[in-house]
Amino acid sequence: MIFGELLQGINGGKVLDVGCGSGQFMEILTQSLKSFESVTGIDVDETILREARMNLTGDAFRFITASSQSLPFEEGSFDFVSISKTLHHVENDRQTLAEMMRVLKPGGFVLINEMIRDGLSESQQSHMHYHHLRAEIDNLIGISHGTTYYRSNLLELIHSVGLKDLSLTEHQPQEPAPKNPSNIAEYIEKMTGWLEEIADHPLYEDYEKRMAVLQEHFQKYGISWPTQIIALGKKT
Ligand SMILES: C[S@@+](CC[C@H](N)C(=O)[O-])C[C@H]1O[C@@H](n2cnc3c(N)ncnc32)[C@H](O)[C@@H]1O
Repeated sequence: MIFGELLQGINGGKVLDVGCGSGQFMEILTQSLKSFESVTGIDVDETILREARMNLTGDAFRFITASSQSLPFEEGSFDFVSISKTLHHVENDRQTLAEMMRVLKPGGFVLINEMIRDGLSESQQSHMHYHHLRAEIDNLIGISHGTTYYRSNLLELIHSVGLKDLSLTEHQPQEPAPKNPSNIAEYIEKMTGWLEEIADHPLYEDYEKRMAVLQEHFQKYGISWPTQIIALGKKT
């Protein structure tokens, strides 16, 4: 497991995960870090945090409804700050990274995990188009959600933070197999469920047609996660 390899030697101390969602990445952190004292997850979505609170129980975990654009913590409050698959969601990615750096202690670790769109296989393109459709629908209903970064843009953003001992790892998630029928069926069910959110929108039929085209792409090529870049470095 890639995160195990990257984090096995790191004592996480006080960990903050930005845009924690249901806590999936927090769980990966707790399994991968050599040790940790506490893990705080923040997210703007109170509903998803309720799920996270059920998934990760115990005194070491804390969940707070907050925006990455203005983190409710003092300077230097954490030893390790992460953001996974969330940077493309936020209103201003540079502001989010600046906030993450502010709340991190000097010498503390930053981890950025984010998808890119360059050189994707057909099955990965299925996922990218699926993701972009979701982003469009989110924006229609007033939720900030950007498209997938190009490698060059993401790397420029990461380098702009000025991290010490920066390591960059490109990772191709392998599971589940792209043409696994139940995996494809799950994606299709989720995607068609989004239509309920725009039931009264004038673009409803447009989206219905685009989803039907995308379903054919899923069936023909399968669906798999795009390449991710994992940046790990320290605050100077
Ligand atoms: C794709 S999920 C990623 C969840 C988790 N980090 C993971 O890797 O599985 C993105 C999350 O970012 C949250 N989010 C979006 N904008 C945010 C913001 N400005 N501040 C905090 N969370 C935000 C969303 O509510 C969502 O739960």
